[in-house]
Amino acid sequence: MGKSSKKYAIIRFIINFVSKFLYMDKLDIIRHPVGNELIELKKLFNRSLESSNPLLKSVLDYIAQRNGKMMRPILTLLVAKGFGTVPKATYHVGVTLEMLHTASLVHDDVVDESDERRGQLSVNAAFNNKISVLVGDYLLSTALQHSALTMRVEVVDIISQLGKDLSEGEILQLSNIDNKELSEGIYFDVIRKKTAVLFAACAQLGALTAGASETEAERFRLFGEKVGICFQIKDDIFDYFHDESIGKPTGNDMLEGKLTLPALYALRHTRDETMLALVPKIKSLTATTDEIARLIEFTKDNGGIEYAEEVMMRYKEDALLLLTEVRNEEVRRALVAYMEYAIEREK
Ligand code: IPE
Ligand code: IPE
Ligand code: MG
Ligand code: MG
Repeated sequence: MGKSSKKYAIIRFIINFVSKFLYMDKLDIIRHPVGNELIELKKLFNRSLESSNPLLKSVLDYIAQRNGKMMRPILTLLVAKGFGTVPKATYHVGVTLEMLHTASLVHDDVVDESDERRGQLSVNAAFNNKISVLVGDYLLSTALQHSALTMRVEVVDIISQLGKDLSEGEILQLSNIDNKELSEGIYFDVIRKKTAVLFAACAQLGALTAGASETEAERFRLFGEKVGICFQIKDDIFDYFHDESIGKPTGNDMLEGKLTLPALYALRHTRDETMLALVPKIKSLTATTDEIARLIEFTKDNGGIEYAEEVMMRYKEDALLLLTEVRNEEVRRALVAYMEYAIEREK
């Protein structure tokens, strides 16, 4: 273990220890205003994961036994709650968004050839790729069905555009693997489309289904987008550390040809020829695990993680400015905590 890895291991141990107490509070603050609504939404979500086909049922049961953190529908419920009581349409939208997210993870693990998700074998590892593709499609269609149950065509329109954006983000990421430039612009385009648009839609649709004006919904869309960008930057930072408790593999991005914000920063600010020579190797998937370990170490030693953290802080400040008009104090506090959680979370 290198010197900086040891330093990070100690820091992470302390953070983990303290966070056991702190983050419990943070998640409590986030969920508190919508505790009952979240229970209802989970019931609706689980009821939608049913099928009479035995094979499909076994895969859906497998997925349902490990729910995710439900961060996306929580955002939808919170924003809606800020406008008063949560109407039925908001629950359908919440289920749509969590279902779309679940489908995209099932497909993502095929694309990334990843064998672990939410602390258990990914669907492709527990079953196979064909099942993942088919079940992912089934989940996507279930998502669409719930958007129709809102009885609002503009909601279906936003969901359809969202599905297109998510696919485009993944495709852009794939085509960028051949790109030898160390472009931060493309990195942000990718994460905006593959992750942030989903959070943006969660907040926007929470507002719209609760009777907000277009202007108010747009303000929440922007809030969600900034949260989502931080959420993905944080997810990318996880990849630089080994941590079993995350529930999915780390150290995968470079193996897949992806250079994320911390490495882009470190590489753009160095003249170290050995490290720069690794870029085409990473991009052509020919770098050895040893070379990847060295680039990860180099990134940490050269301020890559700190830089990514500073970028998140700037997004956070902008995001919080968008909350000043939220009148429900409990909801406003929860949304602030939500933004902080995206940056500080440990899984
Ligand atoms: C994982 O999202 C995918 C990313 C966009 C980083 P989450 O961390 O919200 O995943 P679950 O739903 O809780 O498993
Ligand atoms: C994020 O992509 C998940 C989606 C947008 C589908 P990643 O491939 O970076 O996320 P993880 O780390 O597998 O969850
Ligand atoms: Mg991926
Ligand atoms: Mg992945």
